[in-house]
Amino acid sequence: MARFLIVYAGRGGQTKIIAQLLGEGIRIAGHEARLADVAEIKSQDDLTGYDGYAFGSATYHGDMIPGMKTMLFLAEKAGLEGKIGGSFGSYGWSGEAVTRIFDTMRHVFNMDMASGPLMLKSAALEGGTKMAQDYGRELAAKAP
Ligand SMILES: Cc1cc2nc3c(=O)[nH]c(=O)nc-3n(C[C@H](O)[C@H](O)[C@H](O)COP(=O)(O)O)c2cc1C
Repeated sequence: MARFLIVYAGRGGQTKIIAQLLGEGIRIAGHEARLADVAEIKSQDDLTGYDGYAFGSATYHGDMIPGMKTMLFLAEKAGLEGKIGGSFGSYGWSGEAVTRIFDTMRHVFNMDMASGPLMLKSAALEGGTKMAQDYGRELAAKAP
């Protein structure tokens, strides 16, 4: 059984809902998923010991939530190279946070990334619930 860590950052709760659904998808696939608000990640030790990671942030003013930026600097030193990775987040119209997190995980951390980031306006709209669960399944399917 692989272990996944899902870290989310948002203001209004939509990104947290996506994180929860993604975790469901991982668990449905038979693996373990731990959810953490970004404020719970205080040191790089909090990021070690997992096979895969999904980092998510809502986009505000064209940017990610500041706590997620801080966490990504911790993650840089956590030895995530080759680990399974994905990014997600709720957005309104541009969603820069999600692609920036994805690109950082791929190009800086050199992780084994999902086919792309998961961007949803709301998990409640346009099949979002299933898309979020399916993203969890996609990450889980990369586990050995
Ligand atoms: C003040 C403000 C600024 C926002 N700026 C952006 C933005 O630049 N790009 C975007 O795609 N969405 C933007 N949004 C929309 C939020 O990303 C969207 O409401 C999202 O669902 C919030 O997720 P959360 O509930 O996890 O915080 C903005 C929303 C507010 C209230």
